[in-house]
Amino acid sequence: MKFFLDTANLREIEEAASWGLLAGVTTNPSLYAREGGSLADFHAHIQRICEICDGPVSAETVSLKRDDIVAEGVELAALAPNVVVKVPVMPEGLAATKSLAEQGIDVNMTLCFTVPQALMAARAGARYVSPFVGRFDDISEDGLEHLGNLIVAMNNYDFGHPVEVIAASVRHNQHVVAAALMGADIATVPFGVLEKLVKHPLTDRGLEAFLADWEKVKNA
Ligand code: G3P
Repeated sequence: MKFFLDTANLREIEEAASWGLLAGVTTNPSLYAREGGSLADFHAHIQRICEICDGPVSAETVSLKRDDIVAEGVELAALAPNVVVKVPVMPEGLAATKSLAEQGIDVNMTLCFTVPQALMAARAGARYVSPFVGRFDDISEDGLEHLGNLIVAMNNYDFGHPVEVIAASVRHNQHVVAAALMGADIATVPFGVLEKLVKHPLTDRGLEAFLADWEKVKNA
């Protein structure tokens, strides 16, 4: 499973990239707003992310009509070669995805909650499909069960083009562990979760013991 960072924060992206594991970045309007981003700086900000991360960088459209989504998507895709246009799953979004895919532009269909939505996104030409996990948990449903079903369904078919499932709306370590066991292609995680994923108390304890023993070696 590849790790994407779900953020628009440049320092977080730089740090994760320095760890050598950053395969991509996903942003959305809420994440950009969280950084205090302005409309005037949006395109430049996406370009800055694309300079730090050479993997796919999802930038989301906010239009609701197919022609407007396509126009927005074409503009976003022109910002850098690794921009992926993020489009919500909805009829107008599917139509826009078809058109963008036909123009050779990679699309990540987002706000995906069901098996049919994922299948339809893939059929429309999406390169990535992003099922949301945590938002199901928020409404007391089992987000991981939904994710597992969606991955099984997607693996049943050949869509005639590469399609990768991005486990999104990831809130904690267990989401990531389960996504990997289920065979999600990618997990897009907030930086706070990524930091927790690299840690384990036994690693810390083991390191302490090694360092203490090394002191003995140095003094021997
Ligand atoms: O990239 C979109 C997704 O990951 C959103 O997560 O935490 O707002 O449900 P969240």
